[in-house]
Amino acid sequence: MLPLLLDRVGFDVDGRCLVDAIDARIEAGTRTVVLGANGAGKSLLLRLCHGLIAPTRGRVAWSGQGRQAMVFQRPVMLRRSALANIEYALARAGVSGMERRRRSAAALERVGLGSIAARSARVLSGGEQQRVALARAWALEPQVLFLDEPTASLDPGATAEVERIIQAIHASGTKIVMTTHNLGQARRLGDEVLFLHHGGLAEHSPVDRFFSAPATAEAAAFLRGELPWT
Ligand SMILES: Nc1ncnc2c1ncn2[C@@H]1O[C@H](COP(=O)(O)OP(=O)(O)OP(=O)(O)O)[C@@H](O)[C@H]1O
Ligand SMILES: [Mg+2]
Repeated sequence: MLPLLLDRVGFDVDGRCLVDAIDARIEAGTRTVVLGANGAGKSLLLRLCHGLIAPTRGRVAWSGQGRQAMVFQRPVMLRRSALANIEYALARAGVSGMERRRRSAAALERVGLGSIAARSARVLSGGEQQRVALARAWALEPQVLFLDEPTASLDPGATAEVERIIQAIHASGTKIVMTTHNLGQARRLGDEVLFLHHGGLAEHSPVDRFFSAPATAEAAAFLRGELPWT
């Protein structure tokens, strides 16, 4: 299904241009990190790529059929057990009963939560819920996983655990596209950076180059902690 092609993708609301004519080719294999100041359009771009919203201009084109999944900053858990949350997602994806149980249990084991499978998902801690959300996405065996600030509300220990899981998902063959405000995390997890500024794609470069020699004044200011400008 990859590469993902963004062809002059724009998103307007009430005459305001929130995402502006983004052209990009996002390849399989790499881990893509979307960076930018608050309000730059990162979450909108992920939603456009995942198909949760439709562009008002241009188009998002996948070169084939495939599975994709998305994980949000605050996981949405159904009022049932951790295991049942994953089984429900697999049922919706058309996975049959026996296979569903097996894959759900295996996914919880992989994120280190095998022992809390029967516990109600809504009473789990934020970090545990995020791991269940990652297990739920991983169980779908997506070709692409979109993650919108997956560690934004987690403490350092939980963040490290989520980073380990994201690396393992990538190692299992899933393309990663994620946003973060944690620049250390962008360096650790990213291969390439899409840097957004005021809804436009200001820079698309390898992570090393983005951090050592940003090509735009906006990216340099962002890395110095000087964005948004007043
Ligand atoms: N449905 C909508 N209707 C109107 N404006 C919207 C809508 N969704 C987002 N916006 C606006 O679009 C801009 C970009 O929003 P977006 O959530 O993509 O930013 P972001 O880069 O993810 O920011 P943050 O770092 O704070 O998460 C913001 O100014 C936001 O207020
Ligand atoms: Mg956002």
